Amino acid sequence: MSRTKILVTGGAGYIGSHAVVELYEAGFQPVIIDNFVNSRESALDGVESILGVKVPLHRIDCNDAEALRAVFAEEGNVRGVIHFAAYKAVGESIEKPLEYYQNNVGSLLTLLTVMREFGVEALVFSSSCTVYGVPEALPVTEQTPTKQANSPYGATKQMCEDILRDVAAAPANKLRTILLRYFNPIGAHASAKIGELPLGVPQNLVPYVTQTAAGIREQLTINGDTYDTPDGTNIRDYVHVVDLAKAHVVAVQRLLAGTGETVETFNVGTGRGNSVLEVVQAFERATGVKLNYRIGPPRPGDVPAIYADVTKSVEILGFQTSASLEEALASSWKWQQHLADSQ
Ligand code: UD1
Repeated sequence: MSRTKILVTGGAGYIGSHAVVELYEAGFQPVIIDNFVNSRESALDGVESILGVKVPLHRIDCNDAEALRAVFAEEGNVRGVIHFAAYKAVGESIEKPLEYYQNNVGSLLTLLTVMREFGVEALVFSSSCTVYGVPEALPVTEQTPTKQANSPYGATKQMCEDILRDVAAAPANKLRTILLRYFNPIGAHASAKIGELPLGVPQNLVPYVTQTAAGIREQLTINGDTYDTPDGTNIRDYVHVVDLAKAHVVAVQRLLAGTGETVETFNVGTGRGNSVLEVVQAFERATGVKLNYRIGPPRPGDVPAIYADVTKSVEILGFQTSASLEEALASSWKWQQHLADSQ
């Protein structure tokens, strides 16, 4: 039996590379598209070493319609697409809004156009809990109203969701799509052969934590402890990247089975909220390494607290996370140590 082909844009990236592994292990044939602006080819060596096979790669930009057409034509029978490729740094998006709108919104439009030309109907889109802004009540369900985005990055996710709803609503387009709203992905594959590769100084919490533990950074700064939360630090829903990757497999299976609505939205989180201090303590417990940290000022634009209501994902998508916070953090640490050994 030949494997069903799924195109994975941004397949060399942090979440993309984990999804490629899970897709292959679930019996699909992932085909990677990546332009390597924010990823490295070494991630694909890791994927190959986990799977024991090379996954086909097309080194192109999703904004390049001609190059995309050539990929769809060469591959022949692509049945679905997972669109990870995007810029993802909130701060940078404020400095470079034009690049963010062009890359994140432009690439989706190009991809949808080429998918329609080739009769490819199934798309899983990487959205984000950032669409909820500062929520009025917790946890957030998929029905929680979305808010004015507080960064161009967040705005691109909202715009892409709107575009997908409109395109799928026009029957002639024959698009079926699942929008996955990720909470905070952390962790790495159990083999420590793939993981997050932050370029430069990490902006996200867990890479900063592991680099501090490894002595690459001197000290972690916790961004404020006077929020209206039990210990004063921000609360997030940290989801293991392998669990998150598996959500994509389930979403692809659902789209190909044609059982759902033309557009469906799901939160992908654990349903647990953890504070920054809890993450620090869980990391210390999971690894036995003491972290050097201090409390600094709040980071502008941070949402005080957000975590997912996962009822809809569990009941309709049939997806549930399994890793604990400690397990996820232990896998991040194992990956950090692997990086240190390999450099
Ligand atoms: C945000 C977005 C998320 C987006 C991601 C992209 C929200 C709710 N989340 O995640 O949708 O995909 O950016 O990067 O808008 N922290 C520290 N010290 C550090 C780094 C982080 O205390 O050195 C704190 C932050 O203030 C925050 C928490 O750790 O409270 C998590 O931060 P981070 O990992 O950057 O993710 P978000 O900002 O939650």
